[in-house]
Amino acid sequence: MLNLIIAEAALELVPHEISGHASARNEAKRRGIKSSETLLDRSIHHHAMLKLLDGAKRGRPDLVHLTLLSITSTPLYLEGGVKVYIHTGDNTVLDLEKRTRPPKSYARFRDLVQKLLVERPESGLISVHESTLPALLDRIRPDLAVGLSTQGKTSSLEALAVELSKASNPAVLIGGFPKGHFTPETVAKLDELVRIHRESLDAHVVAARLIYELEREG
Ligand SMILES: C[S@@+](CC[C@H](N)C(=O)[O-])C[C@H]1O[C@@H](n2cnc3c(N)ncnc32)[C@H](O)[C@@H]1O
Repeated sequence: MLNLIIAEAALELVPHEISGHASARNEAKRRGIKSSETLLDRSIHHHAMLKLLDGAKRGRPDLVHLTLLSITSTPLYLEGGVKVYIHTGDNTVLDLEKRTRPPKSYARFRDLVQKLLVERPESGLISVHESTLPALLDRIRPDLAVGLSTQGKTSSLEALAVELSKASNPAVLIGGFPKGHFTPETVAKLDELVRIHRESLDAHVVAARLIYELEREG
């Protein structure tokens, strides 16, 4: 079974530094909830986000949703061959029970994730806990941990799939962010950093292609 980690994902609640900003207050008022309980979203909070540290890497829950849909619609996932974790940039982990399907509608996904991040359930189809990426890998204890990145060593996805299928508990990290790269702390925990295409691709494309190659490996 593959442990697939959407890592350092651009998924978080509006941080306190900008929860009083007009864009955050207006969105919260429109939806009848507190601004600190809405998801940070560049399409809504762009101006407020300009003052956030590492802002370019944050506030893209839509990317996480697309990537999750792409993974959870594959035959391998539906057969229980993939376990998904979403590790966020602010070190929260959403742990999906195998075969759990997220809502296809973005609005329903957003509402679900907001509730999960506020209530932080310790069990259920999606549980939530605080964890750095190194701590998550220590918990999974993979015999092969591979990060996918344009900063990695060039390899074909076919060759990577062969290597992963020989491991008994492999983990693959795909960045859940729009720009930037894995932190040095993340890279230090990996056995390999692999580049699978000359261009930078969207995470949902990388995830779907990886799973397809693993399916072909049987
Ligand atoms: C939109 S990219 C992040 C941007 C980053 N500058 C990059 O090129 O890796 C999202 C994620 O998709 C994966 N990815 C995208 N293009 C890739 C490539 N050519 N090789 C390996 N992984 C890739 C990586 O895991 C990356 O973190």
